[in-house]
Amino acid sequence: MNPRHCPDHIGIVAHSSPQEPDLEITLNGKPTPIDSDPAMPLLWVLRDVLNLTGTKFGCGVAACGACTVHVDGQAAKSCVMPVSMVNGKKIKTIESLGTPDKPHPLQIAWIAEQVPQCGYCQSGMLMAAAALLDRNPKPTDADIDAAMTNLCRCGTYQRVRAAIHRAADMAKVGVTSSADRPPLGARAPSGGSAAREAANVGVRS
Ligand code: FES
Ligand code: FES
Repeated sequence: MNPRHCPDHIGIVAHSSPQEPDLEITLNGKPTPIDSDPAMPLLWVLRDVLNLTGTKFGCGVAACGACTVHVDGQAAKSCVMPVSMVNGKKIKTIESLGTPDKPHPLQIAWIAEQVPQCGYCQSGMLMAAAALLDRNPKPTDADIDAAMTNLCRCGTYQRVRAAIHRAADMAKVGVTSSADRPPLGARAPSGGSAAREAANVGVRS
């Protein structure tokens, strides 16, 4: 007889309840038990179970990057990643990148460069850019193009590139809040911006 169905084993059944989550992640700095089908993609867990809807569904086949989060500091596409694959790992989503009072330098730069258009791809773009700057604080245009494989149907690629350069420049001179940010339309306080803007023209058009 299945011990779960035997009255003599009620204590055992209660102790090994299937309700007890087997998975746990550290989500945006907090230990988070996951009580979901281990095969459920991380994106579904984030959005539908944990109600963190900043991470977006685009293609569902690891092609567009709208669902990008950080897994142990690396940019990863959460739509094709069973949650069991990230058991015990540190997951960071757009919800923890910055706050209105203390935005991430990339978010300051994104606003200054007026990057978002419809906005749908932008949380994934920002998470990919944040992972890039974490490992490479001063990326070249080639570094950015290699890292930023996210798709944007609004064609914000040149602005994304300019904003990443701006955020890198801001970090270099210690701009850490929106109060310190350069005014809209102005460039970050470093040299080479005009040349870089010129170089941006025509990229990924
Ligand atoms: S939704 Fe994950 S890569 Fe497109
Ligand atoms: S801003 Fe519209 S898809 Fe990228």
